[in-house]
Amino acid sequence: MKVLITGAGGMLGQALVQALHSQELIPLSHQVLDVTDGSAVRTAIQKAAPDVVVHAAAWTSVDGCEGDPDRAFSINAVGTRNVALACQPRGTPCCYVSTDYDFDGTKANPYLEWDRPNPLSVYGASKLAGEQEIRSHLDRFWIVRTSWLYGPGGRHFVGAILDKAKAGDPLRVVDDQIGSPTLTSDLARALARLIRAQAYGTYHLTNAGACSWYDLALKILQIAGLGTIPVKAISSEDLARPAKRPQNSRLRNFCWEALGYPPLRSWEKALEAYLHSEPGR
Ligand SMILES: NC(=O)c1ccc[n+]([C@@H]2O[C@H](COP(=O)([O-])OP(=O)(O)OC[C@H]3O[C@@H](n4cnc5c(N)ncnc54)[C@H](OP(=O)(O)O)[C@@H]3O)[C@@H](O)[C@H]2O)c1
Repeated sequence: MKVLITGAGGMLGQALVQALHSQELIPLSHQVLDVTDGSAVRTAIQKAAPDVVVHAAAWTSVDGCEGDPDRAFSINAVGTRNVALACQPRGTPCCYVSTDYDFDGTKANPYLEWDRPNPLSVYGASKLAGEQEIRSHLDRFWIVRTSWLYGPGGRHFVGAILDKAKAGDPLRVVDDQIGSPTLTSDLARALARLIRAQAYGTYHLTNAGACSWYDLALKILQIAGLGTIPVKAISSEDLARPAKRPQNSRLRNFCWEALGYPPLRSWEKALEAYLHSEPGR
């Protein structure tokens, strides 16, 4: 199977390249393909004639998007339209990676794939617009919402906590947002499985279980042997970031499990595996 990946140099993109290594891959980084350039996207997909496109390119800076909505929508919505339109002529199935920030976080339980999105941020709105582009232009697609990603080769919360702890900076972390930290390699393997099975549709895919950012910080430090470093729990209001985040980001992996697939391993096990494999982190 020939698989073209957009955003292949990103954190998830790198994990996808590894997870799909047994396939014929066309990994296109931002430098090689800018998804906002519709004609370049059309040419790249036409020339490669892939069996599947995995669209992992996005502007993922949540606070950056809040300050520049035009750029957010150009990359995350129009960029996704360009990819979907380029997939149309040959009916190429496309896998679009989306986000828990689609939801407003007011639900008491984990979100199901059919729950009504209501993004609180420009980032969430622009990613949701990308979903709409995929749905309206393609018959065969996977829309996979995930959350709180971390992994090798990226900038993320796990790395930021360790860097701050090692620098002796004070640690203040919000305890009023809950979600499921997800390791990029676990997600990438699950995406590869969905693609191979041609199991089209909308999915939620995360490591199992959930925690607050504060719980996650404590666990990172404990696993890294830095458990004596104090962490202060604060509220989202105390942090006052430009973009609002949902308080409940938990995504129930209902459609994945309905296929008979086992849940992804727990977030704690995935975090341990990551920190033990990247001791320099
Ligand atoms: N990170 C999370 O916690 C999280 C949670 C839920 C969903 N997601 C989704 O997961 C996917 C992968 O995200 P990630 O965490 O791997 O983020 P990432 O490391 O920022 O990867 C995104 C990649 O897209 C590239 N990109 C940005 N603008 C582009 C453009 N105009 N054309 C082509 N490529 C462009 C970036 O390149 P540059 O670095 O050069 O800009 C980067 O390599 C995204 O769709 C994201 O929305 C992420």
